[in-house]
Parts: sequence; structure tokens; C-alpha cells
Amino acid sequence: MSKPIISPSLLSANFLKLQEDLEIINKSEADWLHIDIMDGVFVPNISFGFPVLKYVAEACTKPLDVHLMIVQPEKFIKEVKDLGTMMMNVHYETCTHLHRVIQQIKDAGMQAGVTLNPATPVCVLKDIISELDMVLLMSVNPGFGGQKFIPQTLNKLKDLREMIDSTGSHALIEVDGGVNLEVGKLLVDGGADALVAGNAVFKAPDMVDMIHRLKNI
Ligand code: DX5
Ligand code: ZN
Repeated sequence: MSKPIISPSLLSANFLKLQEDLEIINKSEADWLHIDIMDGVFVPNISFGFPVLKYVAEACTKPLDVHLMIVQPEKFIKEVKDLGTMMMNVHYETCTHLHRVIQQIKDAGMQAGVTLNPATPVCVLKDIISELDMVLLMSVNPGFGGQKFIPQTLNKLKDLREMIDSTGSHALIEVDGGVNLEVGKLLVDGGADALVAGNAVFKAPDMVDMIHRLKNI
């Protein structure tokens, strides 16, 4: 089994020592940096916006995995691209015309991911799975770091793995929310390709070591 992609979530960083935290991520085995953008409408919280992220993007040497928890995410494709983003994830629940949004993201030169809330079943992606570079399964209700993993995610992961394998889709599976070493192992065994980890990484006494342990789970 290949090692999982590790994407530490910036939301849990200490913003008073952001440069220091980013330098630690840069020298670690982290593969990507996960960036959570919230609007206080789709989710009951507001995180950070593009003026802040411009500096984050400059200081970070890892590819950016951007998770938009905002209504009408298609309005910000250019801003996300201008950060140098590799992967832009939009929520299924925010896109009436999901197929169009995915095409727009790809036309902008980014990889396209779709995120599912915990109560949204995997089957809604059946007719678009072949177009996707990633599916991001939320394993908590989006909006906050440090929440408890929802175990039903493991059943969804099984459904999604089957859908991807049976259709020949190249989409990666990423899981986000409440991921720690114990949960991460179950997810990797269940076929997840990428793990987002916020609190598990940024609140660890040794972030580099925690990332190493997640990578070798
Ligand atoms: C929640 C965000 C997550 C969050 C994960 O809405 O999408 O990326 O930062 O944090 P942890 O790993 O602490 O649950
Ligand atoms: Zn996220």
C-alpha cells in the first residue's frame, strides 16, 4: 500500500507565528497545505481571505489544496488560481451547476475536487466522477477544526472507493475532519489516498514528527 498524501490544515495554525509554522510544514514530509476558506453563510464560521492567503502562498513551498466552504465558489476561481493553487475543492452542496464549475476550474489550469458534507451520499457523484481529480469526504460538519470524527465516513469511503475503482476514475479520495493517527489508519486501510489533519498536526508537540507518523501510518 502506498503512503498517504498528508495535507496539514492551516486553520489550526497559530496565526501569531504563522511564518514559523509554515517553515516547519515546508521542512516536513507534508505533501500539500490544506487551506479552508469560509464565508459565514455556507458554514457558521469565517476563516481567512485572499489578502492573508497571498502571504501564506508566498511562504509555503508545498502545493496548495484549497477547500472552499463558501456559496457561489465559482465567483472566486481567479482569486484561487492567482494563489498558485494546485487543487481547488468546491462543495457539492454549494454548486447548482456542478459540472460547469468543474470545467471552469480545469479551464483555469487547476485540478478540480468536489467535497461532500457528512449527510450527502456518495451516489450524487455518479455522473461526474470521471471528470474529477479528487473527492473530499467531510468527516465532520464543516466550519471548525478540532471536532470528532464521524464514523459513518468509513462506510462512505467504502462506497466511494467502489465507485472510483469500478468506473476507472482517476480521482483521489481525501478525508477531512477529526483525523488523528488512530482514525488515519482506518481511513488508509479503507482506501483513502489523502488525509487532512488540522489539530492533530498543529497542536502536536513536534509537528514534523507527527507528520512523519501520519505519513507512515
Ligand atoms: C473543517 C475544515 C477542516 C479542519 C480540520 O471545516 O474543513 O479542514 O481544519 O481540522 P481537524 O483536523 O482539527 O478536524
Ligand atoms: Zn478542510
